[in-house]
Amino acid sequence: MEDFLLNALKKTDQEGLYRTLQSLETAQSPVVVVGGKRVIQFSSNNYLGLTNHPALKRAAQEAIERYGVGTGASRLIAGNLELYEQLEKNLARFKGTESAIVFPTGYQTNVGTISALMGEKDLIFSDALNHASIVDGCRLCGAKIIIYPHRDLDALEQLIKTAPQAKNRMIITDGVFSVDGTIAPLPGLVELAGRYGCWLMVDEAHATGVLGNRGRGTAEHFGVEKGVDIHMGTFSKALGSLGGYVAGSKNLIDFLINKSRSLIYTTGLPPSVVAVNRAALELVENGLDLRKALWERVGFFRNELNRLGFNTFSSEAQIIPVIIGDPVKTMDVFQYLFSRGVLAYGVRPPTVPEGLSRIRIAVMATHGWDDLYFGLQVLEEAGKRFGII
Ligand SMILES: Cc1ncc(COP(=O)(O)O)c(C=O)c1O
Repeated sequence: MEDFLLNALKKTDQEGLYRTLQSLETAQSPVVVVGGKRVIQFSSNNYLGLTNHPALKRAAQEAIERYGVGTGASRLIAGNLELYEQLEKNLARFKGTESAIVFPTGYQTNVGTISALMGEKDLIFSDALNHASIVDGCRLCGAKIIIYPHRDLDALEQLIKTAPQAKNRMIITDGVFSVDGTIAPLPGLVELAGRYGCWLMVDEAHATGVLGNRGRGTAEHFGVEKGVDIHMGTFSKALGSLGGYVAGSKNLIDFLINKSRSLIYTTGLPPSVVAVNRAALELVENGLDLRKALWERVGFFRNELNRLGFNTFSSEAQIIPVIIGDPVKTMDVFQYLFSRGVLAYGVRPPTVPEGLSRIRIAVMATHGWDDLYFGLQVLEEAGKRFGII
């Protein structure tokens, strides 16, 4: 076995795709310490800076004191603390749906929801840049998968028109795309889903807390919440902690409780995390100031990158790719940025298509303006040094 492992790792390394883990020695914040080095953080999904928020830490501590550190069993077998019920009630109200259910992670939410709803006789239309957890859910369920070009409504309509017969059909899309920072054309997707009798599922992982007046996500941003059948999202990005959710009709949630294997056959989130999620929802719903701060910084940073001559593709949101192309060069840029005090990870295939390796920048509401100026200065240096700009 060791030979097999070594050969596989060697090949990955030769392709410039070797991955390692790096440890952070501080809490997530705009400035973190990695390997003893103080760096400005540009790689966190902690978009609103909530991971270290005093109210959330207090909620966790109180929940631990009252309920302990674990649930002791899966939610369907004696592990369903009353905290879940409170969180799900608040979540359904937040999303404006009849009901909601919380899973341990966003990954499990997508895999468990798609595989519960869709089967071999069904058809899924999936955006080419959807997150890996959607891809894995689609693969697991055995449905026929038709991938449509990223955000291309005309191509999608053609594919729907010429698709083979199926029992049920579903369109699935990220709301904000995780490594391109593009936003799904939801009004058009809602219209197509309605016209051709497809269900519509939207993954709001990177949009929850970020888009929409009340932070409900892409559907709120476009005012099409009623047109979405399955609102999926996470607590692990802007909400600062961990967990995934689905919000929708009562029948949808009852169906998932009965059929979703990644909900049924796993232990639920610990009480501290459930309590944090409940408190984070409240902060986010009333977090207009944080969203305003975020969008001001995002607009400024992207404009400056473009002015300097970087290719940020079609980014519209807080995730801004700086396209480099070659995976080895991407990691050289990452290392250079790190050496100069900027933490901005390289993203390579298979996470992104071949030839589109990039530095993925994520702007946070809590970045100081000096952090942003410094980041731009170091990126400019790197851009010139590596012949990117
Ligand atoms: C679009 C999208 N969906 C789902 C997930 C999975 O969420 P989690 O990290 O909570 O498992 C991610 C995480 O990166 C994501 O980017």
